[in-house]
Amino acid sequence: MDSSDDEGEEYLFKVVIIGDSAVGKSNLLSRYARDEFNLHSKSTIGVEFQTQTLEIDGKEVKAQIWDTAGQERFRAVTSAYYRGAFGALVVYDITRRTTFESIPRWLDELKTHSDTTVARMLVGNKCDLGDIRAVTVEEGKSLAEAEGLFFMETSALDSTNVKQAFEIVIREIYNNISRKVLNSDSFKEEVSVNRVSLVSNGPDGSKQQKQGYSCCSR
Ligand code: GTP
Ligand code: MG
Repeated sequence: MDSSDDEGEEYLFKVVIIGDSAVGKSNLLSRYARDEFNLHSKSTIGVEFQTQTLEIDGKEVKAQIWDTAGQERFRAVTSAYYRGAFGALVVYDITRRTTFESIPRWLDELKTHSDTTVARMLVGNKCDLGDIRAVTVEEGKSLAEAEGLFFMETSALDSTNVKQAFEIVIREIYNNISRKVLNSDSFKEEVSVNRVSLVSNGPDGSKQQKQGYSCCSR
C-alpha cells in the first residue's frame, strides 16, 4: 500500500458475532446498524449480515458484520462463517452464567477457523438487567485480560456501549492493518500490548477513554 497515494481508499472488514443462543447477538447488530431492538426476536437461522460505514483517519471504512445462530442445529457451515474475519464480538448474557462458561469454547472455535489476527471483544450483554446479574463485571474483565481481549458490558435494549463495542473492534482492525503495513516485523509484538481497553460513558453521557473497563452502573 502506498501511503502517499491512499486518499479515497476504502476498506472492507468482516466482523463476526458469536456466542450462545439468546445472548442478544442479533439485537446488538440491529441496534448498531439500524438503531432497532426487538423484545421478541426469533432465533437466527443460518447467517445474516449488515454493512456499516464509518470514517477513520479520513478514510471510508466499511464493516460487514455477520450474525449467525447460537444454536448448533441452526448454524451454517462454520468455516465459511469465520473465513476472512478480522474482528469478532464474543457475547455472553450477564444474567445467564452458562453463557459465560461457554466463552472458552467460542474462543477455541474462532481460533480454529480464523486465518489471521482477529481483533476480539468480550461482550457481556443485557447490562440493563443488573438486578438479576449472574456474572460480575470483575469476572468478565478477568477473563478478557487472561485471554487478551477487549471487554465491555452492553445493552442492546437501552443502547449502552453498543456503538462503542463495534467501533473499538473496527478501529483495532484498522490499526492492526496500518501497523502491519508500516512495520510488519513489529506487528505481532505491538498488537499483543494493551489489549484490554476501555471506553465508557461519562456521567453526562459523554464518551470517555480511560484505563480500566467499561460496564453499566446498575
Ligand atoms: P440466536 O439467534 O438464537 O443465537 O440468539 P441471539 O443471540 O441472536 O439473541 P437475540 O438477539 O435474538 O435476543 C434474545 C432475547 O434477548 C430477545 O428476547 C431479546 O429481546 C433479548 N435481548 C437482547 N439483548 C438484550 C438486552 O440488552 N437487554 C435485554 N433486557 N434483553 C435483550
Ligand atoms: Mg440471533
